[in-house]
Amino acid sequence: MQRAIEEAYAHGIFGKQGLLKGKSDFKVECHLHRGAGAYICGEETGLLEAVEGKRGWPRIKPPFPAVKGLFGRPTIVNNVETLAAVVPIIEHGVEWWKGHGCESATSGSPSYGTKLMGVSGHVERPGVYECDLGIPLRELVETHCGGMRQGKKFKGAIAGGVSMGVLGPDQFDAPMDFDIGRFDVLGLGTACPTIFDEDTDMVAVARNISRFFKNESCGQCTPCREGSGWILKLLMRIERGAGTTKDLDLLLEVAGSMGLTPGTTICGLADGNNWAVRTIVNKYRGEFEARVKPQFIPVTITAGG
Ligand SMILES: Cc1cc2nc3c(=O)[nH]c(=O)nc-3n(C[C@H](O)[C@H](O)[C@H](O)COP(=O)(O)O)c2cc1C
Ligand code: SF4
Repeated sequence: MQRAIEEAYAHGIFGKQGLLKGKSDFKVECHLHRGAGAYICGEETGLLEAVEGKRGWPRIKPPFPAVKGLFGRPTIVNNVETLAAVVPIIEHGVEWWKGHGCESATSGSPSYGTKLMGVSGHVERPGVYECDLGIPLRELVETHCGGMRQGKKFKGAIAGGVSMGVLGPDQFDAPMDFDIGRFDVLGLGTACPTIFDEDTDMVAVARNISRFFKNESCGQCTPCREGSGWILKLLMRIERGAGTTKDLDLLLEVAGSMGLTPGTTICGLADGNNWAVRTIVNKYRGEFEARVKPQFIPVTITAGG
């Protein structure tokens, strides 16, 4: 990245002389700011705080960064992939871009263009594949990734980053587009799915994801800070066979009460925890039920009147 920035300076794209060595009045400087690796510093306002040299705590919005961002100035925050897509759109035109991807299946936003899909997990050839948006997950796995590893059966997939939740065993044909929410996941996210085969223990998957969110919660909001710890404890109890059916309901209740969607937190990290846990428990409930003991409610019966 640093080398690419230096090349761009050398070619006069960045720098004091103006864009393209004085051919334009627009001047732009480019700095690479290295973070320390916290997941929360990917959230746009957590990122701004970190760049300002503070702890990466997401800010309450509004004001949004476009109004008041880095050092109080209007700021846009975009993913590098988004910015990289601008160049081919300008070069080849909007119609060309719209020729890739697909229309909306739900009269929502269309999914035009291509996307870098980083596939990991139980496939023969994990890797990053640039595909048209809307490619069915099955086609991505079978055509580009060489199929399921050792010919095993598909059991499920993280849709695109753990925050998005999990596609179930009957959702292998889900198109990788912006309408993927209709398969009861939060969204397309990074469009980088993790694939699980038939041997995967989904209780362990839920516990592993929950440990991640507990560790990465910045701690500002009580439902996220405390809820992520409760969820992890409940899942660890269920995994070692000491949980009850009541724990399963409690798990869904705690998860469902944290995040921007229920309106209890500052940022979407808690929604990620919420969706990951709820989609795994709901789509693989049988696996969880097989690990818990039924909850007996003591009943006192008194003789006589
Ligand atoms: C907990 C959390 C972590 C995030 N991490 C990233 C990240 O690593 N990279 C990223 O581009 N966006 C991340 N986002 C989304 C950003 O807040 C923001 O929406 C995005 O960078 C906007 O860029 P785009 O419109 O180009 O996608 C994260 C959001 C949350 C809630
Ligand atoms: S939701 Fe969690 S990660 Fe986001 S600001 Fe609140 S405590 Fe921090």
